Amino acid sequence: MPHIVVNSYERFTTPRSQDGFTFLWFADGILGASDRLVGVSYEGREFLLQIRPKGPSCIIKPDKLTRLSPTIVMKEALRAFCLLAKCEKVYDNLSSIKAIHAQKAKEYLKDIDFFLHSFPGQKEVWIEIGFGSGRHLLHQAKNHPDILFIGLEIHKPSIDQLLGQIKLQGLQNILVLDYDARLFLELVPSNVVGKIFLHFPVPWDKKPHRRVLSRKFIQEAKRVLKPGGILELRTDSKSYFDYGLELFLQEPKLKLQIDKNIEPPISSKYEDRWVRLGKDIYDVRMEALELSAPKDLGFDFVFGASGLRESFIENFSTKPMVFEEFFIHFEKLYRIDEDRYLLKLSFGSFDRPAHTYILFDPKPRYFGKRPIPTDANIAAHKRIEEILHG
Ligand SMILES: C[S@@+](CC[C@H](N)C(=O)[O-])C[C@H]1O[C@@H](n2cnc3c(N)ncnc32)[C@H](O)[C@@H]1O
Repeated sequence: MPHIVVNSYERFTTPRSQDGFTFLWFADGILGASDRLVGVSYEGREFLLQIRPKGPSCIIKPDKLTRLSPTIVMKEALRAFCLLAKCEKVYDNLSSIKAIHAQKAKEYLKDIDFFLHSFPGQKEVWIEIGFGSGRHLLHQAKNHPDILFIGLEIHKPSIDQLLGQIKLQGLQNILVLDYDARLFLELVPSNVVGKIFLHFPVPWDKKPHRRVLSRKFIQEAKRVLKPGGILELRTDSKSYFDYGLELFLQEPKLKLQIDKNIEPPISSKYEDRWVRLGKDIYDVRMEALELSAPKDLGFDFVFGASGLRESFIENFSTKPMVFEEFFIHFEKLYRIDEDRYLLKLSFGSFDRPAHTYILFDPKPRYFGKRPIPTDANIAAHKRIEEILHG
């Protein structure tokens, strides 16, 4: 992470521009925070720099939640800030150019906003969840050049390994996403997916709430699959198979096919290991039978409320509020000037919360990227709006 350590800096008058960056305001931590944030805009995007006291010095770095990529942009922002703030620098790590090379290797790695704003629509889409070594995904992509594959994984070394293989094998039909599969399907348009592979999901026998497969997941899978589309669960865990089957049977209408110990077109590393150990392998194929209603993925996360109420500041509490399907946690409050504040908060689903800021300018709006429109985030946003209204 690029950063600068300074003995002193000047708090200049804002807004002020330098090298394409506009420094909008300084925000001082007043409740739950001892740091200072600087609002910055660059080519229509926004982010924060954080200034944190460290002994007799200060460390200045991009704020983790809002930082932009590539890293070189953040380095340039720190340089521009230090010019305006006449920083008396002790140390910086701004000279490396590694970031540019790292970026080049990642052209097939997309972020969630890419799928949200421009879900690929020209080819039929197949999704593999938790691709691990990527053996199955690479095999399918090679054999189905007309299909676009989306591979989801949360284990970074597996992602890097797959990206390397995609490049090496010259494949043009795989996009990779580092994102929790339990939420991703919620953001996919209806009726666009031909197949979803869920092979050897982590059984989580002691923490079943962490399983990828759930009632909600099956319902979302039915919605995103075209009629005739298939969700394929393969597992070596009899208890996961039983659990899955019970969930599938709760759905009012679908077609199920169950197989035991059939030979798949390609076996994964996990499968090879279990077969060597003589374990049984279970397959459940769920076929979607009907067209689903389109889903509105355009929720705008706009607030109707105006200004931050004094009573909100007086009663500010960092105690998380837990509701049935979501939570809200106000973490820190920063003051920009008499009317303007910045609130750091997290909210949404317990598994994959949104971490963000609300800027009261004085009308509230999310600063930086908008939250992802999952059901939990939308429900939490509506509740936040009620709280802000009082
Ligand atoms: C047991 S491995 C199976 C890998 C591969 N499918 C195979 O058959 O060899 C399960 C994989 O799912 C990934 N995973 C677990 N939870 C996930 C989630 N919520 N979203 C996406 N991937 C997940 C893990 O990182 C792991 O690589």
